[in-house]
Amino acid sequence: MDVNEVKIHDHDLVPYKGFKLINGTHDPDDVDQIYNLETRDSDVFVVTYPKSGTIWMQQILLLLEAKGDQTAISKLSKYSNAELVPWIEVYGNRRTFITAPSPRMRVSHLLFQFMPSALSQKKGKVIYVARNPKDVLVSYFYFHKVANMLETPTDFDDFFEKFMRGDVFGCSWFEHIKTWYSHKDDINMLFITYEEMIQDLRSAVERIALFLGKELADEQLADVVKHSTFNNMKNIPQANYERVPGELLSHNQGRFMRKGTIGDWKSHFTVAQNEMFDKVFHREMADVPLVFTWDIKDIA
Ligand code: PPS
Repeated sequence: MDVNEVKIHDHDLVPYKGFKLINGTHDPDDVDQIYNLETRDSDVFVVTYPKSGTIWMQQILLLLEAKGDQTAISKLSKYSNAELVPWIEVYGNRRTFITAPSPRMRVSHLLFQFMPSALSQKKGKVIYVARNPKDVLVSYFYFHKVANMLETPTDFDDFFEKFMRGDVFGCSWFEHIKTWYSHKDDINMLFITYEEMIQDLRSAVERIALFLGKELADEQLADVVKHSTFNNMKNIPQANYERVPGELLSHNQGRFMRKGTIGDWKSHFTVAQNEMFDKVFHREMADVPLVFTWDIKDIA
């Protein structure tokens, strides 16, 4: 099943083993079996907290596979890149993963403990994309208006509280990044940030290609970069999700590819919210040696 077949029952989040799944999109029994999936060396999982660059990475993986040939990729899917690089946790996708031909490229928002245990035997590869959580929060707020499987927040303040409590699909941003980051040396993992990709897409693409063992000529790499910039991706229907049926995404409420920048939180957070966020961030991330870029001006 691809995302287009997801059933919109209601917006309920279903608590499941310390995580929250979306009713009608995920089936707990199915998610439970992901852990036991046999994994091939050629498998690639892109793992993200929601709104951290998942569809960007779907596009880059497909382009690397096609050596930069966007026309070839566009012919392979009807609605979106998710048909080619699906979410492993969406109901039905675990089953199709088992028999899919290599290379199996998948995305996931799940926590480490739900993912195939074979990853810890260094089978398969994980690309973890992290994004500064203030921009994640803002992007997620707008996405809740567009995505019909998610409850529309009353207002930004309401969503801010929910996000800080981890009362959203994906759970707590802090827990997500910390559990994955703590396993970075136990599995084959490339850790990359959204902000690094914004700052220098060419070197990000080169790092990803190297990690995946993909050898592309200079012009092919240039094509990968060209077709994965925000402005170009915005015009590729399968990459920007504009063909996903309206039942799933209310396209009149906003775009999947919204702003694509760093620091949009500055026009949304109140001073009090920012102070509160910083306090939680410093407490939660005290032992994590990660530095985030919070403003586009800091990389200019
Ligand atoms: S989801 O729903 O979790 O799969 O969303 P996800 O794809 O992880 O995140 C969506 C945000 O990523 C931005 N995006 C990009 N930014 C820069 N360049 C490119 N090429 C790109 N592609 C996607 C997208 O615009 C969303 O961020 P916001 O801040 O809302 O614009």
